[in-house]
Amino acid sequence: MEMFDVYTLFDLEPVSGKGAYVYTEDGQKYLDFYGGHAVISIGHSHPHYVKQIQDQAGKLVFYSNSVQNSLQHKLMESLSAASGLTDYGLFLCNSGAEANENALKVASFHNKRKKVLSLKGGFHGRTSAAVNATYGKKITAPINEGFEVKHYPIDDIREMVKELRKKDTCAVIVEAVQGIGGIYEVPDKCMKKLSQVCTETNTILIADEVQCGYGRTGDFFAFQQSGIHPDVISMAKGMGNGFPIGGVLINHKKTPAWKGMLGSTFGGNHLACAAGKAVLDTIQNEKLLDNARSIGKYLINSLQAIPQIKEVRGRGLMIGIEFDFPVAQLRKKLLFDHHLFTGSSSNQKVIRLLPPLNITKAEADEFLSKLKAGMNHG
Ligand SMILES: Cc1ncc(COP(=O)(O)O)c(C=O)c1O
Repeated sequence: MEMFDVYTLFDLEPVSGKGAYVYTEDGQKYLDFYGGHAVISIGHSHPHYVKQIQDQAGKLVFYSNSVQNSLQHKLMESLSAASGLTDYGLFLCNSGAEANENALKVASFHNKRKKVLSLKGGFHGRTSAAVNATYGKKITAPINEGFEVKHYPIDDIREMVKELRKKDTCAVIVEAVQGIGGIYEVPDKCMKKLSQVCTETNTILIADEVQCGYGRTGDFFAFQQSGIHPDVISMAKGMGNGFPIGGVLINHKKTPAWKGMLGSTFGGNHLACAAGKAVLDTIQNEKLLDNARSIGKYLINSLQAIPQIKEVRGRGLMIGIEFDFPVAQLRKKLLFDHHLFTGSSSNQKVIRLLPPLNITKAEADEFLSKLKAGMNHG
């Protein structure tokens, strides 16, 4: 047998991690400013997280969603406290794509429509409906094209609003800050207008917070900056700090649940809930939203002062650095010569930064000096 060869791999294997660092077998230390695609929210092997998972693994790892599971309720209460949101029902699943799949399904159950509107550059996952809503056709197979999808510019939604006024759209799905697209923020006025027109036309607004949520931008959810209340919110990545867990928050007054409406074998299992609750405890106890905001501001200001950088975008610890050349070689140099993990994006000239939310100013400075060394001396 061999692995189905779909990933482009760096020739390097981290075997352990601590905080913002990962280590290879020979003891080489790497500064992780990417968190394995935005997943590491509270740092590698955070002691509270490790203990909660170990304790839960010694008690019960899994039982199905056919019995009571109070861990789900504890996770939900912590999520409500951390996000400040109350009027939602929580459905637990295992990944970002699955969260969006269920979000789109809830929308279509609600208004019985099929058409989905989204933004150019948006990424929503690789499963059937989620990939169809994703911008760009390369990863969409014919079997995924089960409904009409239209994409609009991120900063000009006039045509989108016209389309919505036809009252035949099922859902609008947007990332308030696009991740894979290259760190582009949807302007607050567009978020507000979309929210208003979706309500007027009985269209479900889905905030895809899989990457930009969970404190990443300095707000718990990125859409909260615009003061809107999406009908449905999808989340994953930072939610489990590496343990696979995803979730959907659904405005259950508008779209009530019925028995059997959604389901998952593994979603909400005991170990995933322990991991998810440990992440939320840590975000609250260590005031990680404040940290993301202040270190993010420091990083963005410092990066803006570097003349070779064309543009710095984003907020909190979700930062895009745009150069006027493709960054693949620079990222390779940073990794192998300066032991620094950074991320790419679908814009080839953009480096994506998604470090753990608890990085220190000293780690931010270490990052800046590694970046400058990579840029200046190769
Ligand atoms: C905004 C967004 N939505 C959905 C997904 C899909 O998540 P997953 O890979 O967990 O299925 C991603 C993954 O990168 C994402 O960035």
